[in-house]
Formats: sequence, C-alpha cells, structure tokens
Amino acid sequence: MSDMASFVPAGADLDELREEARSCRGCDLWRDATQTVFGKGGSRARVVLVGEQPGDVEDRRGEPFVGPAGVLLRRAVGDVGLQPKDLYITNAVKHFKFRQAATGKRRIHQTPDRVEIVACRPWLLAEFAQLAPRFVIALGATAGQALLGPSFRVTRSRGRLMPWPESAYHPEDYAQPGGSAQVMATLHPSAILRADDRDAAYAGFVKDLKVVADALT
Ligand code: URA
Ligand code: SF4
Repeated sequence: MSDMASFVPAGADLDELREEARSCRGCDLWRDATQTVFGKGGSRARVVLVGEQPGDVEDRRGEPFVGPAGVLLRRAVGDVGLQPKDLYITNAVKHFKFRQAATGKRRIHQTPDRVEIVACRPWLLAEFAQLAPRFVIALGATAGQALLGPSFRVTRSRGRLMPWPESAYHPEDYAQPGGSAQVMATLHPSAILRADDRDAAYAGFVKDLKVVADALT
C-alpha cells in the first residue's frame, strides 16, 4: 500500500482534510467509486459515529449515512436526544466498495477488507485528532475493528463504554490533555434493517445509544 502520510496532511482542519481526501489513492477503492465520502458534522461535536463505508446512495450524493441506514440512524439518535450539533458522522472506509450485479445496474455492497481498513484509517484518526471527541460510537464490526483491532467482536462488547485502548490504533495526539475519550460499539444500522425482529433490534440499538446520550449530559 502507498504511504498514507503523503495523502493525509498534518495539522489540517476538517475542511482541508475533506478537500485532500478527494484525491486519496491510498488503496484501490477510489477507482470504481464515484467520489470520496468524508465525514460530516459539527466541528465541536462531542460524539463521533463511525460506520463502515458509504453505500450506494452515499457514493452518489457524497455524504455519509444519507441512504436507508442513515434514515434509521438519524431517527435513533433523535430518539435518545442527541443533538445534531453534538454529532459528527463518518465511516471507517471512505470509498464505496461494491461489485456489479450479474444482470442490471445494481451495485452490491462488499465488506471492506483489512488492507482497505488500515489504508483508510489515517483519515479517521485525523478526524479524531481535529475533533477530540468525548465519545466514539463504532457502528458494527468494521468500525469496531478499525478502532479496536481485528479481534474485536461487537456482540461481546456492545453497549458498554470502554476507555480508549492503549494500542497502535491510538494516535499520539488524540488524547488531548484533560481529554478522556471513551468508545462504545453497537450494531450497524443496516443490520437492524435486515433483522428478523426489527423492532427488537431497533430497541436494542436505541438502548446502546442512550448509554452515550446519558453520559453526555
Ligand atoms: N453504511 C455505512 O456504514 N455508512 C454509510 O455512510 C452508509 C451506510
Ligand atoms: Fe483513500 Fe480510503 Fe478511498 Fe482507499 S478508501 S482510496 S484509503 S479514501
């Protein structure tokens, strides 16, 4: 993989990072995708939500979580009383990975692999470094593994606030003096849309998000 340091400018603010990320060639996903989908939200957000990667709708619109999963996510954060100004929404991987359906034009989501997650992580860490959030919410396994390492399992740890791990995934400048970021993992909103018992899955998701909403106040 390429040297990501050449793509991610040091000390850039969020607008500069977003601009630079448009021409990222850190892995191969830019080739087939429409555009880079960078994070979006309040520059003083205390909570960062991390998804997997943009989906079909996000790829075309250039914004994170604006398709069906995003509708569910925005409803759930509203239900627990998290304010839009307190949220910054992004993805572990910033280009849409898909394969073309055998017939028709449909683009079928493919889970990003470890190489792509690692290649894209400097963008995520640069977002964290700029925001210094109090809480990071990992939505699903890809986000959890991007933040907490490949052996992380959502089902084992969901809904629990955890200290930011002391690990290679921890950028030096992330822990701001006096800062005490915590991380929590929960389901990915797409998993709720696919669940057999959608109401129960949604209730569990809201319960997890409420842990952060309560800790924030
Ligand atoms: N799923 C994600 O993980 N991220 C998006 O932005 C949209 C769908
Ligand atoms: Fe760069 Fe991430 Fe896109 Fe790969 S997925 S090209 S690392 S922005």
